[in-house]
Amino acid sequence: MKIANIKIPGNILLAPMSNVTNLPFRLMCKKYGASLTYSEMISSDAVIYENEKTINRGMSCEEERPLGIQIFGNSPEIMVKAALKIEEIYQPEIIDVNFGCPARLLTKDGCGSALLRSPELIHEIIKGLSDNLSTPVTAKIRILEDMQKTLKVAHLIEEAGADALTVHGRTRQQQYSGKADHSYVKKIKQELCIPVIANGDIVDEKSAREVLDYTECDGIMIGRAAMGNPFLFKRIFHFLGTGEMLDYKPCNQRIADLKEYFGLMEEYNLMHTINVKAQAQWFTRGMRNGRHIRRNIAASKSLKYIFESLDEMCRRAY
Ligand SMILES: Cc1cc2nc3c(=O)[nH]c(=O)nc-3n(C[C@H](O)[C@H](O)[C@H](O)COP(=O)(O)O)c2cc1C
Repeated sequence: MKIANIKIPGNILLAPMSNVTNLPFRLMCKKYGASLTYSEMISSDAVIYENEKTINRGMSCEEERPLGIQIFGNSPEIMVKAALKIEEIYQPEIIDVNFGCPARLLTKDGCGSALLRSPELIHEIIKGLSDNLSTPVTAKIRILEDMQKTLKVAHLIEEAGADALTVHGRTRQQQYSGKADHSYVKKIKQELCIPVIANGDIVDEKSAREVLDYTECDGIMIGRAAMGNPFLFKRIFHFLGTGEMLDYKPCNQRIADLKEYFGLMEEYNLMHTINVKAQAQWFTRGMRNGRHIRRNIAASKSLKYIFESLDEMCRRAY
């Protein structure tokens, strides 16, 4: 897939996820084949006010490229200023704009999915960014209740100069309930000329194949199913390429991945930024002895003990 002049090696993308898609996690998804990774969303206002913690969310490394950095905001001027600053600090391959987040923290300020009610402002934001940046600009939206309104927003985004569009097939009101409706994404793909990426409820090999076939989109984006499960990208790539399921030991794989993830967090000095228990929960979800592993991790005083307890669990599992 190509976005503007950027060659993306494949068409399976990792979704931006706040408090999840930090650099170590993105590196692991990349290692297993994710074609493009996005930072957690970054507040344009916070960039302007030089909030170091927020700006650090864009931290990356050569191994990760191509990299997308996602911003949110509601003022075209501030968003351009923030994006120019991000461009200067990180030189990402893509700057993405969040028009999909339904969290009150954003919508109360007219950001994220609240902007879907103001298509003209969306147009102004994308136009401001694409006119002023040398980095390709992409957008991520949710669908509206009405197909025509959704198509109008998609067309405005394209007209304003966006280089690709990701569509999560749920409305703002749905939050994360119900099922993603990919018929909207399919219709948008039929009408737009820029690459369109389908997002929502892609959880395994079969759903990846189905969504790609049904929507005929240029790519798919995976969010929640990748949490604690970066290996999913390898499984999906293998299946799409061969039609066969990858043979692997889920328990050993997840534990090895959790160890590698914590190791990378330590390497990048980020361990203090995460909730270790929550992250362990994602990686051990559905495992027979998952609760035991999580209890051991919670009781461990250092990474060394965490690793030892994970090794012990691995031996017990097989
Ligand atoms: C914990 C969490 C954090 C998220 N943070 C962001 C974000 O920062 N930016 C964004 O555009 N979407 C965010 N999303 C939405 C996802 O990118 C994605 O659109 C959504 O989860 C649907 O895809 P899925 O069914 O594959 O999970 C977040 C979702 C979750 C669950």
